[in-house]
Amino acid sequence: MEKREQLYEGKAKKVFRTDDPELLIVDYKDDATAFNGEKKGTIMGKGVVNNRMTNHVFAKLEEAGVPTHLVKELSDRETLVKKVSIVPLEVIVRNVAAGSFSKRMGVAEGTQLLCPILEFSYKNDDLGDPFINDDYALALGLATQEEIDTIKAYTRKVNEFLKAYFLSAGMKLIDFKIEFGKTSDGTIILADEISPDTCRLWDVNTNEKLDKDRFRRDMGNVEEAYNEVFERLGLA
Ligand code: TMP
Repeated sequence: MEKREQLYEGKAKKVFRTDDPELLIVDYKDDATAFNGEKKGTIMGKGVVNNRMTNHVFAKLEEAGVPTHLVKELSDRETLVKKVSIVPLEVIVRNVAAGSFSKRMGVAEGTQLLCPILEFSYKNDDLGDPFINDDYALALGLATQEEIDTIKAYTRKVNEFLKAYFLSAGMKLIDFKIEFGKTSDGTIILADEISPDTCRLWDVNTNEKLDKDRFRRDMGNVEEAYNEVFERLGLA
């Protein structure tokens, strides 16, 4: 598969055209940002961890009945994926209170929630990805009711799978963010990534943070945390 010109550069990945109009190549960078790009840095080796971990998880989710954009891992940092138009919703699931939820609701980080919360943000950097609900998404034409129903059903499946998967590697899945895309025939599939950038993962015994919060909050041992997750999942 020939890698052609760069289509897009995001905060953590570059996207390239290929000689097949339905396929793209994503190239994972070591660049890290937080707070809508205000904080910038590098997490050495992150691109490799996030690429390989995403592909491993996406392959397992496919087996569990969640379609994804994954076609083929090409190298440590590059993956061939189906071309989609990204649905402009950041789909967040919370199992345990943390981050913006704890702040907004005044609930201490680490508080177990009585049921998982599925929430949406509008994916729009200029607005800082504001919190929205289903009616906002419908009224603004960000997705149809049918698409929202599909996205929610897949997302709940992803949560059930990931909770058990990470727990088997000694980690609690506190919360995560995923994104969906639409193929040229309108099919909704999981896109973007599932990695320590997009999940909060805490050690099941000590509650040590093993995710991007170490970068966001200047906690140190950032690379070590990404490598620890990679090793615990048997990917190193
Ligand atoms: P939050 O508590 O800051 O709203 O984050 C919830 C989850 O979403 C957490 O696992 C981190 C992830 N996330 C992203 O992947 N990208 C983002 O831009 C933000 C703000 C959060």
